[in-house]
Amino acid sequence: MPSTQLRVATTRRLPEALESRLGEFFDVSLRCSDAPMSRQELIETVKEFDVLVPTLTDRIDSGLIGQAGDQLKLIANYGVGVDHIDVHTARQNGILVSNTPGVLDDDTADMTMALILAVTRRIPEGLEVMKSGNWQGWSPTALLGGRIAGRRLGIIGMGRVGKAVARRAQAFGMQIHYHDRIRLRPVEEEEFKATYWESLDDMVARMDVISVNCPYTPDTFHLMNAHRLKMMKPDSVIVNTSRGEVIDENALTRMLRNNEIAGAGLDVFEHGNEVNQGLTSLSNVVLLPHMGSATNEGRIEMGEKIILNIKTFQDGHRPPNQVVPGML
Ligand code: GLV
Repeated sequence: MPSTQLRVATTRRLPEALESRLGEFFDVSLRCSDAPMSRQELIETVKEFDVLVPTLTDRIDSGLIGQAGDQLKLIANYGVGVDHIDVHTARQNGILVSNTPGVLDDDTADMTMALILAVTRRIPEGLEVMKSGNWQGWSPTALLGGRIAGRRLGIIGMGRVGKAVARRAQAFGMQIHYHDRIRLRPVEEEEFKATYWESLDDMVARMDVISVNCPYTPDTFHLMNAHRLKMMKPDSVIVNTSRGEVIDENALTRMLRNNEIAGAGLDVFEHGNEVNQGLTSLSNVVLLPHMGSATNEGRIEMGEKIILNIKTFQDGHRPPNQVVPGML
């Protein structure tokens, strides 16, 4: 384990306050441009630095890890999801991986509620009317949406974010249902008045709103595939603030186009920023550019986690937020 000051490289521009904090603690090379590094730049960086601070837009696969120099010892991810990092190969190569859990749960859950409300209450359509300058005044029949109180919310993935969503949705009067590999303790189920569904199929078929809050792993790829999406009630909606790969985006687009489900709120997409063109023209979807964790507070706290992880490692200990293969 290292004892001298580590050489740290960031791959994206980070909030200014965080960049100067990093400079206080480490010998840091900051990325000046906000564009993601090219493959070649990433290769050069892993050949030279002790610690890489990537983001979810960097593909840290086995090929890249294989090119790293012996000095690379820690990949301190600026974010929670590590689906873009081959954690297994990193471990085999003696490189630790850490992430920033816990500090963006509330922000992501807030955005989940915002999407649920935006879709069910048709907020973007209302905005359009106002922006067009054509509002004719209040009408008893215009832009009617659905009330969320009393609706059944099915949360897929009852981890930290899923629970934060449950807490909020409960305050909105929704009925909480969830599916996860692991059932909550009775005391937590009681806190959320949550109903556990061991079978995802059974839950999906009975919900008014589905919220995807599980991480993307090989097991959750297309968890909401065409077959499961078809099980949803025609008047139900789905929101996703986790990872796009969990939903079969083409199948979802087809269903939305054919009004087989009522709507969708998506903050994440199956192919990153290459959003299915069919989605963008639909009026029953609300699309956001992956901004679930985009608060000033969240991004600074993520940075504090990064510093703690690198500093602890620099002091010769395991980073507190070390990710081990298979833990997600
Ligand atoms: C955001 O999506 C993250 O994984 O941190």
